[in-house]
Amino acid sequence: MKKLLTILVTAILAVTCVFGLTACGEVKYPVEDGKLTVVTNCPFGNYEYIGEDGKIYGIDIEIAGLFAAEQGLELVVKNIDFDAIFTSVDTGKADVGMAGITITESRSQVYDFTDTYCKASQKLIVLESNADFNGKTTVQEVETVLGALTDKKIGYQIGTTGGMYINGDEDFGFAGFSNIEGKGYDTAVTAVQDMKNGNIYGVVVDEGPAATIAANVDGIKVVDVKLTDEDYAFVMKKGNEKLQSALNTFIAKIKGDGTYAAIEAKYYQGVGEKVGYTVSI
Ligand code: ARG
Repeated sequence: MKKLLTILVTAILAVTCVFGLTACGEVKYPVEDGKLTVVTNCPFGNYEYIGEDGKIYGIDIEIAGLFAAEQGLELVVKNIDFDAIFTSVDTGKADVGMAGITITESRSQVYDFTDTYCKASQKLIVLESNADFNGKTTVQEVETVLGALTDKKIGYQIGTTGGMYINGDEDFGFAGFSNIEGKGYDTAVTAVQDMKNGNIYGVVVDEGPAATIAANVDGIKVVDVKLTDEDYAFVMKKGNEKLQSALNTFIAKIKGDGTYAAIEAKYYQGVGEKVGYTVSI
C-alpha cells in the first residue's frame, strides 16, 4: 500500500512537472546568488540547537559553515519544521537540508542525498521509574516488551524515522507495532515533556539527541539498545548534481583530514571552541 502511494505521488509529481505546475524542473545552485541556504530543525541534540546567545550551533551547522566558506558563499541557516525541510529543498527555497537526516528508500526516490557522514540509531526514552526494560540488552528483548504493551502510546517527532519505526514503514523495513498508538510531536523534546506529564509511555528518537535530552531532563532514561541501523546524509533537490558532488568531495575531505572528528569532539567531548551562526527566519 505504501509502495503504491509512493508510486502514485511520484507519478503525480512527474505529471505536474511536465505541465510546469510546480517549481520543479531546472535545478539552480545556489538558489540565491552568493549564498548557501541551509534548512534544519532545532533542537536535535548535538547536531543542531539554538545556544543561549540565540545563535545556532551543532555538528551539521559547523559543517555547513565550512562548506559555505569553501564554496565562497555566505551561509544562511533557517530553522524550520523537520518535514518542511524536504519540500523546502524540492521547491528551491533552500539548497540543502542538514538536520541529522537518515537516508531511506522512499526519501531517496524523491530527493537526492549525499554520501553518509554519520551512523545513527533509534533509541527509546522512558520514565526513570519504568522497570519494563531492566536487564533487556538486545533489540529482540526490547521489542518483545514493546509488542506486549496494551493501551500505550509512544511519541516521536513528526516525519522522522522514529515514527516509521513505531508505526511501521514498508520501505524502511519496519513492521511497526499494531498494539501501540504512535503520537507525533513537533520535536522530540515536546514528546518527552508529554511523557513526563503522563500522557504517553515512551519516546523514540535518534540516539544522539536521546542522550542530550536525558542529560537535560530529570526523571527520564534511555533504554541502552540500538533499535535501528541508520545513515545520516544531507538532502537536496533531485538532480542537483553540482551541489551533491561538491558536498560529497567535501565530506570525504573533512572525514579524511580530521576536521570532522574535531567537530564531533567539540560537541561530544567538549574539546575546542564551538562556532555559532546567526539564524535567519
Ligand atoms: N534521523 C531521523 C530522520 O531522518 C530524525 C531526524 C530529525 N532531525 C532533526 N533535526 N529534528 O527521520
